[in-house]
Amino acid sequence: MSIYNLFKRVAFQLDPEVAHNQSMALLSRFPESLATFLGAHERLLEESQDLDFSYTLKDGNDWTFPVGLAAGLDKNAEAIDFFTSIPFGAVEVGTVTPLPQEGNPKPRMFRLKEEESLLNRMGFNNEGMEKIFKNLEKSDRHGKVVGVNLGKNKVTAAENAPEDYRKLFEKFAPVSSYLVVNVSSPNTPGLRDLQNINSLKTIFDALTDLRKNFNTPLYLKISPDLALDDVPAIVELAADYKLAGLIATNTTIRKDLGVGGISGRLLKEKGRLMRRRVLEVMDKAAPQEFIGVGGISEFSDLVDFWRDGGKVAQIYTAFIYQGPDLLLDWRKRLASLMKERGIQSFTDLCSELAQEGKSKGGS
Ligand SMILES: Cc1cc2nc3c(=O)[nH]c(=O)nc-3n(C[C@H](O)[C@H](O)[C@H](O)COP(=O)(O)O)c2cc1C
Repeated sequence: MSIYNLFKRVAFQLDPEVAHNQSMALLSRFPESLATFLGAHERLLEESQDLDFSYTLKDGNDWTFPVGLAAGLDKNAEAIDFFTSIPFGAVEVGTVTPLPQEGNPKPRMFRLKEEESLLNRMGFNNEGMEKIFKNLEKSDRHGKVVGVNLGKNKVTAAENAPEDYRKLFEKFAPVSSYLVVNVSSPNTPGLRDLQNINSLKTIFDALTDLRKNFNTPLYLKISPDLALDDVPAIVELAADYKLAGLIATNTTIRKDLGVGGISGRLLKEKGRLMRRRVLEVMDKAAPQEFIGVGGISEFSDLVDFWRDGGKVAQIYTAFIYQGPDLLLDWRKRLASLMKERGIQSFTDLCSELAQEGKSKGGS
C-alpha cells in the first residue's frame, strides 16, 4: 500500500474540511520533505528517456506536464512549494476575493466515496488578496506556471463586481503566470448570473485599461450547467476581448444530491460534453487556448480529452481520492503511450490523437 493510501485511511476518518485544513497546514510547513516522503518529489523521478511531456500554450506559458492542479484546493496559496515539487505541470491557486471571507456555514464539503466525487458549498472562503499576495510572493514555484483564480466577495453587489475583478487583476497580474475570472462557482449567490454576455462585457471592459499595462494572460472559467447553445457567444466574447482562453468546467449542480457543486466522476459526462462543445466552436487558428477540467479521474479520460482536441487539463477531486500516486501513474502511462507510437513529444502526440478523434468523429 502506498504512503498516500495509508494517509488517506486516516484522513478519510475525519470530516472532509478538517482533513483538508490539517493536510494543507502540513503541506505548507514541510513541502519538500512531504513530497519526498510521498515518493512524488520530481527529484526522485527517473528521466523519461528523451520524452518531452511539456506543452507550450498559446499564451506562452510552458506546462512541464499536461496536467495541472485546479483552483479551490490551495485557496490561500499556502502550499505552492509542495504542489510545484510534485509532477503537476501547473498550479492554480484561489479563488481569491478582495476581502477575506468566511464562506458558507459548515459542514460544507462532503465525500461521495462510492462515486469518487465531492459535493461542496464552500462559498469562496479565503484569506483575501493582501495575505494571498504575500504568500505568492514568498513561494518557490520550482520554475512552474502558477495561475491565480479571481472571484468577487459575497457582499459585493452584482453591479460592483467589475470593480472587485479590477482590484484583483491589478494586484495579481505582476506575480501570476495567468489569471482567471471565475463567475462559475455555484456557491456565491448570483455569481453564475454574471456569465451572461452583458455582465461579462462589463467585467472585461473594467479590465481593459489595466490589461494595457500587464500582458498577463487572462482566462474565463465556465460552468458545465451553461446551455450548450450559449457557447458560441462566449467563445466570440473571448476572442473580442483577446482573452488567453477558456477553462471548462467548474462544478455542476445536482439538486438530487444536495445544495452545492458536484465534482469528480459524477461530473465526467457533463464536463466532457461542455469541453467538446467549446473545442468544437473554437477556431483552430484562433489565439485562444483551452484548459480542460471536470471529472477527469483516469488516464483514459485524459486520452479522450486529447482525442477531442484538448491539450492541457486540471484535476481536483481525483487528486483527493488518488493523491500524488495518480500523477506518477499518468506519467508512466503517457510515457508508454508515446513509446508505443514512436512519438517523442507530447505536442506531437496531441496532434496525432486529435486527428484520430476527428476521423472517428470522436469516441
Ligand atoms: C471543495 C472544492 C472547492 C472548489 N473551489 C473552487 C474555487 O474556489 N474556485 C474555482 O474556480 N473552482 C473551485 N472548485 C472547482 C474545481 O476547480 C474544478 O473546476 C471542479 O472541481 C471540477 O474538477 P474535478 O472534477 O477534477 O474536481 C472547487 C472544487 C471543490 C471540490
